[in-house]
Amino acid sequence: MRRVDDFRLKLGEQELVPIVVGGMGVDISTPELALEAARLGGVGHISDAMITTVSDRRYGTSFVKEKLQRFRDLIGNPDKSAIKFDLGHLAEAVRLHVGKTMEAKKGAGLIFVNCMEKLTMNAPRETLKVRLEEALSAGIDGITLAAGLHLNSFNLIEDHPRFRDAKLGIIVSSLRALQLFLRKSLRTNRLPDYIVVEGPLAGGHLGFGMDWAKYDLSSIVDEIRSWLQTEKLLIPLIAAGGIFTGSDALAFLENGADGVQVATRFTVAYESGLPEEIKQEYFKANEEDIEVNLISTTGYPMRMLKSCPAIGSGVRPNCEALGYLLDGHGKCAYIDAYYREAAAHPGVSKLSVREKTCLCTQMRNFDCWTCGHMTYRLKDTSRKQADGSYQLLSAEHIFKDYQFSTDGEIALPD
Ligand SMILES: Cc1cc2nc3c(=O)[nH]c(=O)nc-3n(C[C@H](O)[C@H](O)[C@H](O)COP(=O)(O)O)c2cc1C
Repeated sequence: MRRVDDFRLKLGEQELVPIVVGGMGVDISTPELALEAARLGGVGHISDAMITTVSDRRYGTSFVKEKLQRFRDLIGNPDKSAIKFDLGHLAEAVRLHVGKTMEAKKGAGLIFVNCMEKLTMNAPRETLKVRLEEALSAGIDGITLAAGLHLNSFNLIEDHPRFRDAKLGIIVSSLRALQLFLRKSLRTNRLPDYIVVEGPLAGGHLGFGMDWAKYDLSSIVDEIRSWLQTEKLLIPLIAAGGIFTGSDALAFLENGADGVQVATRFTVAYESGLPEEIKQEYFKANEEDIEVNLISTTGYPMRMLKSCPAIGSGVRPNCEALGYLLDGHGKCAYIDAYYREAAAHPGVSKLSVREKTCLCTQMRNFDCWTCGHMTYRLKDTSRKQADGSYQLLSAEHIFKDYQFSTDGEIALPD
């Protein structure tokens, strides 16, 4: 009987186990998790979302505090246009995160960084260029361009010496988005090395509207695959979103995908960056506990657990310290929502804002419990212990379960 291990993902010269552990923002896909995927011969992702915050937490820098000190006079002022990131700090944070991860890499696999264009950091071009260039300089194996259309990203880094040698990929949810990207980056004379096709059951932000349920991953993969064939473009396709078992993955590989990208199953690994008590929330979730809503300020729908503290939280906008979602003109949809709510409830000290959330604060605090649709099946991947909690799993266990399992089976931990 065939299994995932009978296939290989070919990226240039490299032959990989066709399992990519997807990027999970704000250090949920940690270096420890990515390093395991690479050690086992697949691809792991770190993420550069809120990278200066991550650097402070991991490497002892104090970029967030310094930024807050610089802009603290703007606290309480809805006009955040003067808030800028120090590009030197940003570069240093990327260098630390990517550099230290790459130094620790063992095994035949690869480590990529997930880079969300929607983190516009009040200077979209300048900050994105630093993030991409520093990741390349620090030796990352590849960059996955995510969340946003990234129409100019290739152009931004075409002069970097590693532009043609590092693997560069893009996440799309439709043929149209792919066509737009290819048209815009034509001038650089460089195609993406891989395309992640992400369907509507994924975690994090969705490349669909609130009508996401009308779409299905295999149809989108088929459509993109036949268009690439017609255009004679030989770019590996990686299917993502809702692939929960080795057999699910095998079905995509047998239908012509070159690899699969998976994330939800790894949220409950020891190596995932979520705090232990939140991993338990993911394990316990039932299907009706999960929703897709519009509280993210990126403008994209996002999937999360309904019980997460981010929903309805009314914290003061924290752009002086964080501000990763400021759009370049000092705007973020949460600032508007917050001040509208504050004006409607004068004198109330603990506001509840339901329309949007301060995604920076919530993601930093692990209070926005974004998750894939299949999260409600996580309880079937582990054992319930005497105290009612679920046993965490090793990344190796989950990876090998995808690689070797057959018949829709899921191996439980010892
Ligand atoms: C907790 C969580 C956080 C995520 N964060 C990001 C992110 O920051 N950037 C991104 O491009 N995709 C993100 N994703 C999407 C994954 O990388 C992946 O493509 C998708 O979730 C795969 O589907 P699955 O979770 O059903 O396996 C996230 C997914 C999860 C579960």
